Amino acid sequence: MEGSKEQYVDEPRQSSSTGLIIRQKEPTNLEMPFDLVDSYLTPTELFYIRSHFRAPKIDAADYQLRIDGAVRNPLALSYQELREMPSATRTATLECAGNGRVFLVPQVRGAQWELGAVGNAEWTGVPLQALLERAGLEDDACEVVLEGADRGIPTEEPIPPGPISYARSVPREKAIQPEVLIAYQMNGRDLSRDHGYPVRAIVSGHYGMASVKWLTRIQAVRQPFQGYWQTSDYGYWDFLDGKPVRRALGEMKLKSAIARPRVYETLLPHRIYTIFGAAWAGETEVTEIAVSTDGGQTWAEAHFLDPARRHAWRRWKFDWLTPEQPGQYTLLARAKDASGGIQPDEHDPNYGTYVINHPLPIEVLVEDPVRPER
Ligand code: MTE
Repeated sequence: MEGSKEQYVDEPRQSSSTGLIIRQKEPTNLEMPFDLVDSYLTPTELFYIRSHFRAPKIDAADYQLRIDGAVRNPLALSYQELREMPSATRTATLECAGNGRVFLVPQVRGAQWELGAVGNAEWTGVPLQALLERAGLEDDACEVVLEGADRGIPTEEPIPPGPISYARSVPREKAIQPEVLIAYQMNGRDLSRDHGYPVRAIVSGHYGMASVKWLTRIQAVRQPFQGYWQTSDYGYWDFLDGKPVRRALGEMKLKSAIARPRVYETLLPHRIYTIFGAAWAGETEVTEIAVSTDGGQTWAEAHFLDPARRHAWRRWKFDWLTPEQPGQYTLLARAKDASGGIQPDEHDPNYGTYVINHPLPIEVLVEDPVRPER
């Protein structure tokens, strides 16, 4: 099935002559220049990279995936054995929970992601469900912990006394859904090292932190997992009977983003300019998209370029007749979903430095280059 054309809505490009933006040199954290979004599937070479530690070098010949914990038949699979199991190919959008952080005012700590810590790719692998079935998941297992081979000491408090490996848990109800893949291919090619070679999880519909790369262990547990990236990092404030409690981030929130024009791009007056972007959600479908060119006072419907598909983004466009009056204009996009949800007007402070899913303002200048306004 490798490279078979029928799988693709459009052919994924594997290379890019434009490159990524460095947000952190080491470990590797790179962002896609979001104005380059064009194809439905993000070319692998343009897909953002978010890593907490240096990418481990794993030889597929030595690779073993352990499945243990609250299972009746703990087992270990080689890379070859995994590749010989029945596979599935699914399109999924991954977004880092901190994407858009640079828009928060006042500025907050953490990588200053603009819009490009998101991408849509096609993933091939074995459904986690099949592996859990083979291992005999116990009835009282409540979560499945996914552990990567990368290790290190996080730099944010509370700092653990020694190196820890990157691990996240998935609730049982989600882990047994067919869309959760133990993937070895991205866009029809074996995973690259930065994207988790040889094997990673793809937890479609959840923020990117759940899709553990360099996956070496799948452990079913009977108690909710309290690991570092489940509690200290990637957590948010919820309220239980009025009392604040910490919970782990999970499902992606409804969001849309403008790819073109770019911030402070200069547009010609009284011309049709096609505003272009993408919208996505967690477990629901994006059903409507509206654009405002006056900072949110009025909204007009934009048009989708892709069909509604759960877990995958929809590109959209809006033809804007730019004003005759030169000046600065604020563009916004706002999506609605199949459950009647709409993007919030503002960032919810309960999410701290994460879940930046309010309409992000793109300021543009309308100016005639021949007669610039002075
Ligand atoms: N898995 C491991 N083992 N280590 C990591 O640092 N980063 C997570 C997730 N999986 C991470 C990981 C985060 S925060 C995100 S957003 C996604 O990987 C990014 O996947 P990508 O680098 O393939 O885009």
